[in-house]
Formats: sequence, structure tokens, C-alpha cells
Amino acid sequence: MAPLSSIFPFLLAYTAAAQTDYSQYVNPFIGSEGPFEGLAFGGGDIFVGGAVPFGVAKVGIDTYEKNVSFSTINGGYTPKGLVTAVSMMHESGTGGSAKYGIIGQMPLATLDGVNVLDNRTYWQKRVGDDVAEVGYFSTKLESGVGIELSGARHSGIMQYSFPAFSEKHVLVDLSHYLPAEGGGGDSQFFAGGEIKLMADGKTYTGQGSYGGGFSESAPMTTYFCGEFEEAPDQARTFRGRNTDPMGLYRYHNAQGPVPHPTYGNVSESSGPLNDRVGALFTWSNSGNATIRSRVGISMISAEKACQYRNDEISSWNLNDTVNAAVKEWNSDVFSKIRVPTDDSQNRTNLVLLYSSLYFMHLMPSDRTGENPLWESTDSWDDFYTYWDTFRCTVSLYHLIQPRYYASMLRATIDIWKYEGFMPDGRSGQYNGIVQGGSNADNALADAYVKGLEGVNWTEAYQAMLTDAEVTPYNTYSFVDPTNGIKEGRGALYDWIPLGYISSDRSTRPLSRSVEYALNDFSLYQLAKDLAPNDTSKYLRRSAQWQNTWDHNLKHKGFKGFLTPKLANGKFNTTDYNPALCGGCEWMDISYEATPFEYSFTIPHDMQTLIQFMGGEDEFERRLDYIFQPGTSEQDLGANGAAITTIMNIGNEPDFATPYEYHYVNKQYKSVNQTRALANEFFKNANYGVPGNSDAGALNSWLIWQMLGLYPVVTQPVYLINSPWFSDINMTVNGNSTLRIMANNLDNANSYYVQSVKVNGQDWDRNWLEHSDVMVNGGTIEFELGDETKRWEDGDVPPSPGHHVLSRSD
Ligand SMILES: *[C@@H]1O[C@H](CO)[C@@H](O)[C@H](O)[C@H]1NC(C)=O
Ligand SMILES: *[C@@H]1O[C@H](CO)[C@@H](O)[C@H](O)[C@H]1NC(C)=O
Ligand SMILES: *[C@@H]1O[C@H](CO)[C@@H](O)[C@H](O)[C@H]1NC(C)=O
Ligand SMILES: *[C@@H]1O[C@H](CO)[C@@H](O)[C@H](O)[C@H]1NC(C)=O
Ligand SMILES: *[C@@H]1O[C@H](CO)[C@@H](O)[C@H](O)[C@H]1NC(C)=O
Ligand SMILES: *[C@@H]1O[C@H](CO)[C@@H](O)[C@H](O)[C@H]1NC(C)=O
Ligand SMILES: *[C@@H]1O[C@H](CO)[C@@H](O)[C@H](O)[C@H]1NC(C)=O
Ligand SMILES: *[C@@H]1O[C@H](CO)[C@@H](O)[C@H](O)[C@H]1NC(C)=O
Ligand SMILES: *[C@@H]1O[C@H](CO)[C@@H](O)[C@H](O)[C@H]1NC(C)=O
Ligand SMILES: *[C@@H]1O[C@H](CO)[C@@H](O)[C@H](O)[C@H]1NC(C)=O
Ligand SMILES: *[C@@H]1O[C@H](CO)[C@@H](O)[C@H](O)[C@H]1NC(C)=O
Ligand SMILES: *[C@@H]1O[C@H](CO)[C@@H](O)[C@H](O)[C@H]1NC(C)=O
Repeated sequence: MAPLSSIFPFLLAYTAAAQTDYSQYVNPFIGSEGPFEGLAFGGGDIFVGGAVPFGVAKVGIDTYEKNVSFSTINGGYTPKGLVTAVSMMHESGTGGSAKYGIIGQMPLATLDGVNVLDNRTYWQKRVGDDVAEVGYFSTKLESGVGIELSGARHSGIMQYSFPAFSEKHVLVDLSHYLPAEGGGGDSQFFAGGEIKLMADGKTYTGQGSYGGGFSESAPMTTYFCGEFEEAPDQARTFRGRNTDPMGLYRYHNAQGPVPHPTYGNVSESSGPLNDRVGALFTWSNSGNATIRSRVGISMISAEKACQYRNDEISSWNLNDTVNAAVKEWNSDVFSKIRVPTDDSQNRTNLVLLYSSLYFMHLMPSDRTGENPLWESTDSWDDFYTYWDTFRCTVSLYHLIQPRYYASMLRATIDIWKYEGFMPDGRSGQYNGIVQGGSNADNALADAYVKGLEGVNWTEAYQAMLTDAEVTPYNTYSFVDPTNGIKEGRGALYDWIPLGYISSDRSTRPLSRSVEYALNDFSLYQLAKDLAPNDTSKYLRRSAQWQNTWDHNLKHKGFKGFLTPKLANGKFNTTDYNPALCGGCEWMDISYEATPFEYSFTIPHDMQTLIQFMGGEDEFERRLDYIFQPGTSEQDLGANGAAITTIMNIGNEPDFATPYEYHYVNKQYKSVNQTRALANEFFKNANYGVPGNSDAGALNSWLIWQMLGLYPVVTQPVYLINSPWFSDINMTVNGNSTLRIMANNLDNANSYYVQSVKVNGQDWDRNWLEHSDVMVNGGTIEFELGDETKRWEDGDVPPSPGHHVLSRSD
């Protein structure tokens, strides 16, 4: 129980802090470019535009790159791509086939040569530099039209400035969406819609349905309600043949020449062949060069979309929406982590911290009140994906956003209740697709062991049991038709009877073996309290990665690696090199990282892993090796662009690896390696993250680094690293404050830990538990210096899943 005197000063400090405008430190372009200047390829795939935290609407431009092999348009935005629309819904940070880019508008300064059904006749280059701030975006098209926009929770406001004397049109093409760059069966498709022009002449409503994309989803319907400030002088609906390939249904709609539209006046609907429909608005008499529009969207009805538009954007002054967004970002997100912002501070570090917080709050989307599939109190979409966010993003939500996070988890369990499985990935109200294990299990276990309130753990465990025991049906995915990858664990048919995933009957056997093992450890964590009879089973299964570990396999002087094993129990070492993975794709031996990397990912039983690698010295030597330049033997393409070490901080599997020196009590080496990675690969620049931001996963890795902590997922444990700020106040568990202080942070090299105090007590371990400082708050005080020091002599971090498989297992 805290005395009042200790609560009061905090409240005062909080009030003062809430007034700081942290949004000034956000650079919304971090991640908009990759290693090739001007191209998004290999970059963050981020959304750039107007949005509020976890907003349903993410309002921004959609672009297209003609050089498809080097383009990426997943968040809609590319630095130089051709603008095809301003649309209401986007993902942020995602890979795979693009999703959304729907419910668009396109301002046109002329109709000469324009076929409204052919985006190539009106797409636009941009001139000058785009501007983006929290809640605000602007760009200028070659046609002379300026676009400014902002976003609210389910709505957006757009302001188009036309050049003097130009024609003024706005095109609404309901059949517009972000295409898959290279085509491909999992591209999105338009599955029909309807548009109606209202009698006031200013308003249009209706709905569009869109399927496909990364989740390979069935069509999802989005309703809209758009309005112009000033009634157009002419408004026409249009309709034309749909030539989308409709890959999901293995049926090619009438592909052929681009059709020309027929025009109507009042309403248009797609009909049985999913015709393309839309409307064209024209202002011919108005002397006003500025056309403003506000649009609401809803998954329930057009009426609801109109309601959102009215409630959320009640003013035609764009700044009002921008200011409301800024306020929400400050109070809901940025003020949860408060660091000194006076002039003596390193501004770059402030930008990295607050921009990272921004990017980890763009996804998933809070669809509460917007679930058309069943009655629900909590509804979220765009888990894209748990494979990315389970590693360290969800643990940060737990600390700073416990209410949002509990709601996300309730929604995750709800999906199991109504659809049979929890998602690993989900977008467009559709589960899909699973890259490795069923990693919602890990998020639930992590939340459970840390005592998150507001989740029904009985149901959570039942949902996890489905993942662990029920083989999902096969939807014959485009990327891997050999097993069910929509949800659940597609390779249970190997995992349960064989005790590993075989390389001759299954795809991605090595990466899935280690992920399924951690998933089963997650079940074990809940079973201890909720189903004691299940504990021995899931503890044993959490050790099954050992069955596909070849103790004799040697590579580069190291012995013992994950190795492909046939269903007959024999390792297949023919041409096997653990530093290679084929293409590291869906049908390869391991996914998006090599077996060499996955051989480090056993967080629940580091003790056995270290033993398998030959003991502490050999383990440390192997860790040292992966940071040496030139050691990578595998080209990871966009997932490891410009990285030449085996250690690839550009993708999630390796997130925890550089912290593993903690397990041999050499914390200073973790500090050294993680700092070096952060400094080399995370920058206040367009190419500022080393790969897809993945719904903010990469950004959250950096935030932990800056806090001087790293969570061990599925355990109530944090590794102690080295903070980047002299003073950090972090709001944890709703109303508590964790204060992290660092002395001696004055010079650039002074980041090695000399000693640590937790809640005033001298600390001899390089880790702490959730209850130490994360429940009621607390303090961590670091004494830093530029000399490396082995300051810790207590127990190494725990291995709560320690279990060495024996023959009888
Ligand atoms: C696409 O862009 C890449 C990178 O700039 C370049 O190497 C390649 O030649 C381009 N391809 C085409 C067809 O222009
Ligand atoms: C342009 O329109 C065609 C026909 O609908 C579509 O296939 C293509 O993906 C669109 N391209 C862009 C960049 O939106
Ligand atoms: C559409 O408008 C034109 C011109 O105003 C008119 O001639 C025509 O009858 C209208 N069509 C419908 C279906 O309302
Ligand atoms: C023209 O736009 C300005 C602001 O952009 C607005 O204040 C004014 O009312 C508009 N004029 C007309 C005639 O609509
Ligand atoms: C909107 O905000 C910008 C930047 O704060 C300011 O320059 C501009 O004058 C404001 N516009 C209006 C109409 O308030
Ligand atoms: C953190 O909180 C303490 C105690 O309320 C206060 O003295 C200090 O100034 C705060 N520091 C920051 C960076 O907010
Ligand atoms: C600020 O921090 C960055 C690393 O985030 C570093 O590169 C830069 O040198 C620092 N600037 C100053 C003035 O210390
Ligand atoms: C949790 O879920 C179970 C199973 O649906 C239900 O029986 C129980 O009442 C729920 N508990 C609470 C506290 O809601
Ligand atoms: C063993 O691995 C090699 C190399 O990948 C492969 O060509 C061969 O088919 C595998 N053998 C079996 C039985 O799967
Ligand atoms: C647990 O196992 C014991 C011993 O096998 C058995 O008696 C008991 O019924 C089991 N409990 C449950 C809940 O399955
Ligand atoms: C820090 O890491 C670099 C790069 O891996 C290495 O060369 C250096 O020896 C390390 N320093 C310490 C103190 O571990
Ligand atoms: C914080 O405490 C206040 C007052 O006790 C309470 O009203 C509020 O709900 C709490 N907030 C959170 C996030 O727990």
C-alpha cells in the first residue's frame, strides 16, 4: 500500500507531463524507404497518413510503382510511386500481398483522356516533398492539385486545392484497392458493391466488398458515407465490367481489354457479375479552388458510417481533426513513457522513441462495435501478425496499454469461440495465414503469467487446446497448399505422433518445430494452474525441438544444430547447411530465417540449449560468431536487405538472440551487441528500420532497447540491459509508475552497466520479475560507465521449461 505522499507528487508530475506535446518528435516517414533510395522495397512497408491509435480508418494515399520487382506498396505509401487514390483503410508494416487501400477518392484536374475504369489514364506523379505529422499528411500532384488529409477513428477529412482555372472533379471508384505488386493468386479482388447519391447532392453512401490479400480472405463488406462541403454541379454514377482475376475462387472473371463505363445518375450496384461501380463529381461553376470532403466508414451499415462522420469530424476545418488526433496520441500513447525533453537532450533519441511508439500503435485495428459476424463486446482486426508481435510487442502493450490489450486478447478468444480457431494472422475479418506456430498462444501465456486482468483464462486455455490438438483443415493456400495454414497448427499430424516435424512430409519443418515447442510451453504455463493433468504432456512437447536437433552436425566449427529429419526417424543431412534455407519461404525447411538462427530460439529452456551447443563457452563463441560481418551465407531478400551477419535484426526470429549473453552472465556483451544493432539499423530517416516494421514489431524492439529492458516472452521475466535516457517515467498497469534512472550517461560510450539497484536494493542478477516493478511500479537505478564489467554474479535468467527428453518420452 503506497502512502498518499508518494501518490501525490506523481499525480502532479503526470498532469504536467500530459501537457507536453510529444507528437512533435514523431517522424511518420521512418520506414517509408528501403536501402534503394526512393523505393519502399526492403523498408518498413509503413502506412503514412492520418490516423488515431489503433484506428479503424487509416487515411492515406495509395501509390503504384511501375517497377514491380522493386516496389512494395503494402501500407499504400511509397516515396515516389504514382498516386492512384486517397483511401480510408490501410495496414502498416506488413509484408505479403497487399490488403485494403479501399473506399477511395481521386481528385482530377481534367477528364481529357481519362477512362474512370483505367487507373493508368489518371494516376499522378507527385511534385515537391510530402509532409507528414501526427494526424496530418499533404502532398502535391503533378496536375497541380494539392491534397491534405487527416484521420479520426472511423472517418477522414480530405482537402483538395485545385489550381486556378482548372477543372475540378473527384472520382470515387469503389473497385479500387491496393493490388499485389507482381499479380499472384492472393491478390485482392473487388466482389461488388453499391453507390447511391443522396438528394442533397453532396452525399454519397453505399458499400463495397473486397476479398483476397495476405489473409486470402473471403470478401469483407465496408460501408461508407461520403460528403462534400459544397454540392457538386454534376454527379454521375458509373458502371463497367469487372476484370479482376478473382484468384481465390480459381476462376478468371472476364479478363480482357479495359472496359469503358456507362453512366447513370442516382445509384449503381454491381449485380451478379460484380461489375465495377463508382461515381464522378464535378464542380464547374464554383469559383472556389478548394474542395473538402469527409468520409465515414463502418463494417455494419452506411447509417453508422454517416454517424461516425458526423460525430468524429464535426468541423470543415481540417486542423480541428488534426488537433484532436494529436491530443489523443499524446494522452493515450506518448505520455505513457516520459523522458526529459529539455534542450540539452539528444533530439534524435526523442524522435526514435516517440516515432517507435507511434508505429506500434497503428495496428491492430480496434473494431469494437464494428463486428458484423457476431455479437461482441470486443472486436479487433488486423492482427498482422502474432508471429511478429508475440516476441516483444504484446509485452509492451501489457505494460502501457493494459485495457486495450485485454480487449485485444478477449477479441482473439472470441474469434476462436465463433470461428473455431484463434488467429495468428487476421485481416479483413478473416483468419490467415500462419507462418509458424499458433502464436496467439504465446501472447496469452505471457499475459497470464503476468496477471493481466479482464481475460477469461478458462476460455483462453480451451482456445489454446484447440491450437495444440486440432489439425486445421486445408484451404489449399496459394503459398503452401500442402497443409492447413489458415489458422492453428497445420503440421500437428507430424508433431503429435512423431514428436517433431518431418522434412519429407511437412513444409518449414525446422522453424515450425521450435515454434510449436514454445506454443506447447505456453499451454504448460496455463495448465500448471488450470489443468494440472496436462502439465507433463505439454512440458514434454515443449521439449520436442530436441528431437530434430542433430548433435553431430558440424558447421563452421560449431557442433549441434536443428537438422531436417525424415518421418522414418533418420536425419537427412544430404547437402544440408544450417546457414542456408533455400528461399526461407513457405515451402522451405525454415521460414524467413535460417536453421542457424532458429537454433537460438528456445527461450523457455536456454539451459538445455546451452548444453546442446557444447556448454557455456561454446555457446558464447557461437553467439560471437553470428555478429561477425560476412558470416551470412543466405540471401534473405527484402527480409534481410543489406545485412551480412547471420544475426538479422531486420526480422523477428532473431529479436531475442543478441540478449542471450545474459544466460552466461555476460550482460555487457548483450549491451554491446544490442546497442550496436540499434545504432546501425534504427535511424531517424526514411530508411530508418531494417525491414518491414511488421505492425510495429521492429519499433517495439527499439523501445525495449531504449528502456534498458527486454521481455522473455511467456515468462514474467525481463532481462536488464542499459537505458538510453537518464530518467524515464513509465505508466505501467494503468496507474503505477516505473521510474528508470541512469547515472553517468553523459558521454556517448558510457553505456556499460556498473551496478543496478531495483527498488533501492542492490541487484546481483541481470533480470527481474514482473512483480518487482511492473505491478505497483518501482524504480530501477543504473550506474553506467564506459568500461565493460561483469557486474552480475547471481543466478542466470530462468529456464522454466527445462526438460531433457529421454527415450521414454
Ligand atoms: C527496378 O529497380 C531496381 C532498383 O533500382 C533496378 O535495379 C532495376 O533495374 C529496375 N528494373 C526495371 C525493369 O526498371
Ligand atoms: C488499375 O486497375 C486495374 C483494373 O481494375 C487493376 O487490375 C490494377 O490493379 C489497378 N492498378 C492500381 C495500381 O490500382
Ligand atoms: C439522368 O439525367 C439525365 C439528364 O439530366 C436524364 O435525362 C435522365 O433521365 C436521368 N436518368 C435517370 C435514370 O434518372
Ligand atoms: C471557399 O472556400 C473557403 C475556404 O477554403 C470557404 O471559407 C468559403 O466559404 C468557400 N466559398 C464558397 C463560395 O463556397
Ligand atoms: C492549420 O494549422 C497550421 C499549422 O498549425 C496553420 O499554419 C494553419 O494556419 C491552420 N489553418 C487553419 C485554417 O486553422
Ligand atoms: C519522473 O517522476 C519523478 C517523480 O515524480 C519526477 O521528479 C521526474 O521529474 C520525472 N521525470 C520525467 C522525465 O518525467
Ligand atoms: C544522439 O544519439 C544518436 C544515436 O541515437 C547518436 O548517433 C548521435 O551522435 C547523438 N547526438 C549527440 C549530439 O550526442
Ligand atoms: C469463463 O468462461 C467459462 C466458459 O465459457 C464460463 O463458464 C465462465 O463463467 C467464465 N467466467 C467468467 C468469470 O466469466
Ligand atoms: C534429403 O535432402 C535432399 C537435399 O535437400 C533432398 O534432395 C532429398 O530429397 C531428401 N531426402 C528425402 C528422403 O527427403
Ligand atoms: C487427473 O488425473 C487423475 C489421475 O489420472 C484422474 O483421477 C483425474 O480424474 C484427472 N482429472 C481431470 C480433471 O482430468
Ligand atoms: C562489441 O561487439 C563488437 C562487434 O561484434 C566486437 O567487435 C567487440 O569486441 C565487442 N566488444 C565487447 C566489449 O564485447
Ligand atoms: C487510475 O486510477 C483512477 C482513480 O483511482 C481510476 O479512476 C482509473 O480508472 C485508473 N486508471 C486505470 C487505467 O487503471
